[in-house]
Amino acid sequence: MSTYRALLVEKTDAGFERSVVDRKVDELPPGDVLIDVRYSSLNYKDGLSATGNPGVTRKFPHTPGIDAAGVVLESSDGRFAPGTEVIVVGYDLGMNTPGGFGQRIRVPADWIVPCPDGLSLRESMILGTAGFTAALCVDKLEAAGMTPSGGPVLVTGATGGVGSVAVMLLAHLGYEVTALTGKADQHGFLEGLGATAIIDRDAARAGADKPLLPERWGGVVDTVGGEILFNAVKSLRYGCSLAACGLVDSPQIPATVLPFILRNVNLLGVDSVELPLDAKARAWQKLAGPWKLDGLETLVEPLTLDTVSEAIDRILAGRMVGRGVVDLQA
Ligand SMILES: NC(=O)c1ccc[n+]([C@@H]2O[C@H](COP(=O)([O-])OP(=O)(O)OC[C@H]3O[C@@H](n4cnc5c(N)ncnc54)[C@H](OP(=O)(O)O)[C@@H]3O)[C@@H](O)[C@H]2O)c1
Repeated sequence: MSTYRALLVEKTDAGFERSVVDRKVDELPPGDVLIDVRYSSLNYKDGLSATGNPGVTRKFPHTPGIDAAGVVLESSDGRFAPGTEVIVVGYDLGMNTPGGFGQRIRVPADWIVPCPDGLSLRESMILGTAGFTAALCVDKLEAAGMTPSGGPVLVTGATGGVGSVAVMLLAHLGYEVTALTGKADQHGFLEGLGATAIIDRDAARAGADKPLLPERWGGVVDTVGGEILFNAVKSLRYGCSLAACGLVDSPQIPATVLPFILRNVNLLGVDSVELPLDAKARAWQKLAGPWKLDGLETLVEPLTLDTVSEAIDRILAGRMVGRGVVDLQA
């Protein structure tokens, strides 16, 4: 097939406009491996790309999609024979390289992880960058000493992509999980994923003027940043840690050194994009093995190239629940 379908974002005088178009395979950038993309998934960053956020995408017209799972069609790299099932998340995919919201991508072999045994292409994209990042957060918290006996773990932005997988994974690993959400109508969804307590987002902003708050959390997965992040740091139990991966509320943190020097707590950064390939492969192996989650389908909102544009508006407005999975063949 010399042409393929893709979502295209174009910069016009009226702003950034999206449409589904036919594109030529020959016009993909050079790269080692041409992939037939079967599934992608919607992440907050795709919303930023699709609306021209220059921190994500500067080159237009552009096809977003920071996630792709599919089958190798052509390869000049011995590691990936045609027919191999593969996953690509992060690096420049969907940023300034045409991404997973197109039926074909061509990328460097060093961006590609074989889809591990035990995980289907579709399951890998139910997780996608969001689920993968949730796993990196939990991994880093455990490396810093978090254990199920150390107290409840808070997950912020809990109904979102990273948050919902974090709730599910922590519950799977035996943690007591408290979910922080702005969606009063989604408490049942969060309980279904394994949350045993739920906190309203507005309540989590109280106490921003106080230097410390009562010790509550044995760990925190934070996807939102801002005062919610730092209130959570101020509520960590002695010696515990918060993993910070997101900024949907704010990239600013109203911080003091007091929780660090009085409670010995840790603020851990998590990046899924530039993580070295071998570390990415290890995390995917874990998600296909001991961290394989039952019930992933409960997270899915099925999307196609024709419906993903509307979902982009919803993710930017903080109204998505769970994971939007894009079926490129539908
Ligand atoms: N570091 C990395 O490598 C990495 C990887 C993946 C994602 N991220 C970042 O992580 C964040 C979450 O990504 P995602 O894909 O999970 O996004 P998402 O699906 O849109 O989830 C974000 C959730 O945050 C909550 N929220 C929305 N607006 C908020 C606000 N103003 N204040 C507080 N909470 C708010 C909502 O959940 P509730 O209604 O339940 O509160 C929303 O569903 C983004 O900032 C993304 O860029 C970073």
